[in-house]
Amino acid sequence: MADGSTTFAFTPAVEAETQAIWEKVRARVTPMEWRLQAPLIAKINRLKHDKNAVILAHNYMTPEIFHGVGDYVGDSLGLAREAARSEAAIIVQAGVHFMAETSKVLCPDKTVLIPDLRAGCSLAASITAADVRLIKQRYPGLPVVTYVNTTAAVKAETDVCCTSANAVQVVEAVAREFGVDRVILLPDEFLARNVARQTPIGIIAWQGRCEVHERFTAEDIAEIRASWPNAEILAHPECPAEVLAASDFAGSTAAMNNYVMTRKPRQVVLITECSMSDNVACDAPDTEFVRPCNLCPHMKRISLENIYAALLNDRYEVTIDAAIAERARASVQRMIDLPPPAVPARYDMVKARHHVDVELI
Ligand code: 13P
Ligand code: SF4
Repeated sequence: MADGSTTFAFTPAVEAETQAIWEKVRARVTPMEWRLQAPLIAKINRLKHDKNAVILAHNYMTPEIFHGVGDYVGDSLGLAREAARSEAAIIVQAGVHFMAETSKVLCPDKTVLIPDLRAGCSLAASITAADVRLIKQRYPGLPVVTYVNTTAAVKAETDVCCTSANAVQVVEAVAREFGVDRVILLPDEFLARNVARQTPIGIIAWQGRCEVHERFTAEDIAEIRASWPNAEILAHPECPAEVLAASDFAGSTAAMNNYVMTRKPRQVVLITECSMSDNVACDAPDTEFVRPCNLCPHMKRISLENIYAALLNDRYEVTIDAAIAERARASVQRMIDLPPPAVPARYDMVKARHHVDVELI
């Protein structure tokens, strides 16, 4: 059947084609939902094949996207690495706009599509390239590390990028390279505070926040502990420091996934975006997930419907000015060239090793 056909029926052929995916997601998707989702999943997977396209799906995508059509899934660092390695002609970013820009920066000759141009990020929106230029004037000689959750124009102004999976490692590497004891880490204030607790390097920070993680409080964690005393609590480093201090583990979304898959806790709470638990739960049937979580409205703009439309109509193409892309590439590539983070080291992150707070710009 041609993939552009307008038939979206749940036929026996579609059912057979998507059976393995259904087995994976059935704990999180109802049979009624599946009858609507499976035909789209089948069409998307055929279109990807016909157009030599791949879908990079972030851990915050809903399960039918993550498990149904994602070719490469993971955290921001993992997706950036996959984009750099990809041989496909088209990359569809099932994530937010800064992630699609990162893919385009790393793959200038490929077509990079984002299914909804409005899929933004409160961190990326918190800082501009002009802000970074002013900061550099104020702190001459200090290296600038930017979180990947920024625009390509911001990345172009910086020395090296980081993600939540490697921020401590990047800060220490760049401080060594520049021979300095202070580093500018932009734009997430909470990630910066959490990194400052892990390194003797002084951190100068910006007041950007993730609108999903900033809402978790230490009181939330205390209530969870009181209600589920045996649950292991894993928190994302974009949360406030008091939240991490009250948790059992802190790490990127990939590190949380790794924790559950390797340690197999009986009960777990993931202090992060809601879809993360759904996706890990599909792979960890013996773990019970307690679910206090917050939705990212930007991630939730991506759906099977708009992924299908993106592939069918080659929309919406992400483009970046060539000069900006070249400078941004140097920052992202420098990060990618560092050795992959040692995941077990993340297990210490909740315990502060240093008590010097950040200097807020
Ligand atoms: P990671 O997947 O890199 O942990 O980042 C979380 C996030 O908020 C991405 O937008
Ligand atoms: Fe941005 Fe937070 Fe949403 Fe990630 S979860 S895209 S950091 S707003």
